[in-house]
Amino acid sequence: MCGIVGYVGEKQAQDVVIEGLRRLEYRGYDSAGIALVVDGPIAWAKKAGKLANLEKELAESPLPGSTTGIGHTRWATHGAPNDVNAHPHLGGHHRVALVHNGIIENFAELRAEIEAAGDELRSETDTEIAAHLIERALAEGGTLTEAMQQVCARLEGAFTLVAIDAEDPSRVVAARRSSPLVVGLGDGENFLGSDVAAFIQHTREALELGQDQIVTITRDDVSVTDFDGRPVEGTRYHVDWDLSAAEKDGYDWFMRKEIFEQPRAIGDALLGRHDPAGRLQLDEGRISDDELREVDKIIIVACGTAFYAGLVAKYAIEHWTRIPCEVELAHEFRYRDPILTRSTLVVAISQSGETADTLMAIRHARTQRAKVLAICNTNGSTIPRESDAVLYTHAGPEIGVASTKGFMTQMIAAYLLGLYLAQVRGTSYADEIARVVTELGDMPGHVQRILDGSDDLYALAEELQQARVVLFLGRHVGYPIALEGALKLKELAYLHAEGFAAGELKHGPIALIEPGLPVFCVVPPRGRDQLHEKMVSAIQEIRARGARTIVMVEDDDTGIEEFADTIIRLPRVSTLLQPVLAVVPLQLFACELATRLGHDVDQPRNLAKSVTVE
Ligand code: AGP
Repeated sequence: MCGIVGYVGEKQAQDVVIEGLRRLEYRGYDSAGIALVVDGPIAWAKKAGKLANLEKELAESPLPGSTTGIGHTRWATHGAPNDVNAHPHLGGHHRVALVHNGIIENFAELRAEIEAAGDELRSETDTEIAAHLIERALAEGGTLTEAMQQVCARLEGAFTLVAIDAEDPSRVVAARRSSPLVVGLGDGENFLGSDVAAFIQHTREALELGQDQIVTITRDDVSVTDFDGRPVEGTRYHVDWDLSAAEKDGYDWFMRKEIFEQPRAIGDALLGRHDPAGRLQLDEGRISDDELREVDKIIIVACGTAFYAGLVAKYAIEHWTRIPCEVELAHEFRYRDPILTRSTLVVAISQSGETADTLMAIRHARTQRAKVLAICNTNGSTIPRESDAVLYTHAGPEIGVASTKGFMTQMIAAYLLGLYLAQVRGTSYADEIARVVTELGDMPGHVQRILDGSDDLYALAEELQQARVVLFLGRHVGYPIALEGALKLKELAYLHAEGFAAGELKHGPIALIEPGLPVFCVVPPRGRDQLHEKMVSAIQEIRARGARTIVMVEDDDTGIEEFADTIIRLPRVSTLLQPVLAVVPLQLFACELATRLGHDVDQPRNLAKSVTVE
């Protein structure tokens, strides 16, 4: 996902913009650039590769000083990741510079128009076309704001555009449709950023922008209109993420820091979620309790790790509410022509709130009159803005591309949603709900104990450095954890890893078992039907075939030792809540193995933190 920074104020814009881009690096990118308003045509520089390449270019060929500028880190969608396709892009006379996040879907017809008018386009990008269109509109008179309004009315697709005008150093103008952008409100200066990490070292006062809105920032003013130029009010909020929350705090990786932040993140996800009478309450709920009582089907839509959080949620929600709950990969959902009614509740789970597949899924759901509730970690992002209600996960900024505390708090929020539905619909007694809420309150301590006892996992990572295949087995709510454990290893160690429902082994996968093959096994708590015994049998079967078993099992669950090469003990908790504990060793193992393999744990190859294109 691209990173965008805009600045107008009293400081040197280049310094503010480059620093902002550095804090957005986690979003994943393959080129970077900057543009400044100076005397004469726009001053700019852009380079393929990491930000360091751009900084080297700026050191060798300094730009003039300026207090108005924009910057961009690009994750290539249209056009190769090279210097020419890097942003910013300029109009034909270098009066307008533009950076962009998203996709302009009707760029082909607009490109033909620009070329027919005699303009020469140098890149393969849709962004350059918009820069020419804005510059042409500006040449007809009026302000950059008016030119932006005029052009945005013609664009189709999802985009954030941020532009500067060489003839007007007072302002930076941006437009937003289905792509991330927030405003930082300073004193004698104002900022634009793809997310608050771009400017929280300068200000924690932010302004949310809505769909199809244009914002003009000057040193002393921020004004917002719709694409037709009608004034609208943005939503101000205080960013409670300290700068340190976006730093590493002494850890080697953001991911490891975020794994160790999970006890706090669980606590924050639970904080303030029930009233003085102990009754649960949701954030910003614009779905009434009466409407929730009418819900007769729940469909969870998400991608990747968020999808696995949805799989965990399904077991809990169905158990507590007796409402049928389906879990769908967002990118498959709308193409299967799902059956939705006004009584369907679609739950979108997304850490970033910008995943295009999930966004398109909820848009489809809304056209079918379903109610949409978002479980999201990013305030002001597109998915919650387009939902009927939102449950923020309050994990704080998750910088590591591989989701850990984001996943953890998605599960916590999904449990809270299930309990809230049970409370509203009366399918669980108040004391049952209170008992689960109390047990959730114990989770930070349980997770901390696992984190404190993780040395064995470091030894295991050392031992398994040469592994080429790793399997993960689980049953019931342990099955989604097996899938998540496999995904972490794929993402970070670039290993072939696969998660299975343990009951599936005998239907084929057991043929994969061979001497020395590492298999992680999540053993369900005892006392729930025969799940525990069946899982132990599966472990016996693979151990008999030489598998190297790493067994995660409750503290006092004895009798498993003879089938386990490595035992990881978990505090005893209710079956439905065990995923909160079982996932932690798998996160730690994947992070440690990837570190030992010398991989970039925070920005794994080929991946971006949020996939804002379908
Ligand atoms: C998780 O480790 C991955 N980075 C990826 O699967 C991610 O969970 C998925 O892309 C969904 O992202 P979201 O939660 O921001 O929507």
